[in-house]
Amino acid sequence: MLSQKDNELLCRVGPGTAMGDVFRRFWNPVLPASEVALPGCRPVRLRILGEELVAFRDKSGQLCIIEEWCIHRRVSLALGRVEEDGIRCLYHGWKFGCDGTVKETPNTKNTNIRNHLRARTYPVREAGGLIWTYMGPPDKQPPFPHWRFMDIALSNLIVVRLDSGSNYMQVLEGGADSSHVGVLHSNFARPGWMEGEFNANPDDDNPTALVSGELAPDLEIEDTEFGFHYAAVRPMTSQDGNPMHNVRIVPIVMPSTRIIPSRAMQTVLFEVPIDDENTRTISIGFRIDGGPFDMDKYEELRGRKNPALVDQTTGRYLGTWENHFGQDRAAMEGNWSGIQGVVMEDLAMSMSPGPIVDRSGEHLVGADAAIVRARRQLLDSARRTQSGQDPIGVTADLSKVIACDETVPTDTRWQVLAPGHKPRQKDH
Ligand code: FES
Ligand SMILES: [Fe+2]
Repeated sequence: MLSQKDNELLCRVGPGTAMGDVFRRFWNPVLPASEVALPGCRPVRLRILGEELVAFRDKSGQLCIIEEWCIHRRVSLALGRVEEDGIRCLYHGWKFGCDGTVKETPNTKNTNIRNHLRARTYPVREAGGLIWTYMGPPDKQPPFPHWRFMDIALSNLIVVRLDSGSNYMQVLEGGADSSHVGVLHSNFARPGWMEGEFNANPDDDNPTALVSGELAPDLEIEDTEFGFHYAAVRPMTSQDGNPMHNVRIVPIVMPSTRIIPSRAMQTVLFEVPIDDENTRTISIGFRIDGGPFDMDKYEELRGRKNPALVDQTTGRYLGTWENHFGQDRAAMEGNWSGIQGVVMEDLAMSMSPGPIVDRSGEHLVGADAAIVRARRQLLDSARRTQSGQDPIGVTADLSKVIACDETVPTDTRWQVLAPGHKPRQKDH
């Protein structure tokens, strides 16, 4: 459980909040690059960490993120004219550069006013099929992170965003929770669950395809430079009868990212707070060998192509109590959840308690240890940031961070499967 005070500290991310300050110390992805692909294209409205912003690519090709509301009389710059070197407000023609400078103010003869005003803008980068921004203090800007997926051909990355109506931590906690995979996702994880049998799902691309029917994996956790990683260890027997361990390693990267393994693929999931009660999940899927993938199969497993549950234009998840998150009770005779698709099952769980869950009523067990650790490193980081220190993981090297799902002899140390994960120094 978590006290209500700590729950507030954990969940509030707007300007001026302690956890908001933690998130603002990192480069965060905010949208797929395909949404602002062409110079001069339609500006995109963004809400990130409770701030209203506009992303646009000026006609020279430069990417910009600017506060949405024009500093003259606060109309939306998302309706503005995109020009060669900035954006011009439609209302009275004030023009802003990507650094926030006021370039023209045609409705006043007082040209001096430009020198005293500046629009709020944030540094922007494009990498790995995503647009990233840094919203923290300029003097604390960390090096731009290099993730492993940035080395893979863009055409072999699956970049998807999905916005849903709960606090970021509810979505992240689903990802730091290995023990739900064999239960909530029974249809995929244990295809023989109806008969009480375990038949391993042979699909190497499927992150819920467990090779062991063990529902209570041992969890081993270790702090790392980037946050922590945990191994869910499930005993099993090899084909020739030897005892083995199936090991699924999931890294939890500060502030709110995880990598989920399948045997052949990795999925990096960023839970980016839109505000306290909404979360933008940006996921990057790729094959470990960097090769092409079957997009239709990938999406069918996740259930995101169902227009009743995901607005295919805006990328907004539409599950609510009004539509029971798409649950079909009659189908539950043969379908564990009555909900089609792994991501749709996960979102029903994260949204069912309402936008901010009251964690003071929980009764945690050993299988929840990774969730406890995820909360603790965020709360520690909030306290560190408030006292002038750096949050955990802010300068970590992410280039060798991986997830893995492998079966090894019982005497193998699981850490050798992720040799690029450096243990955290003591002072953190
Ligand atoms: S409100 Fe933007 S120029 Fe007047
Ligand atoms: Fe899940």
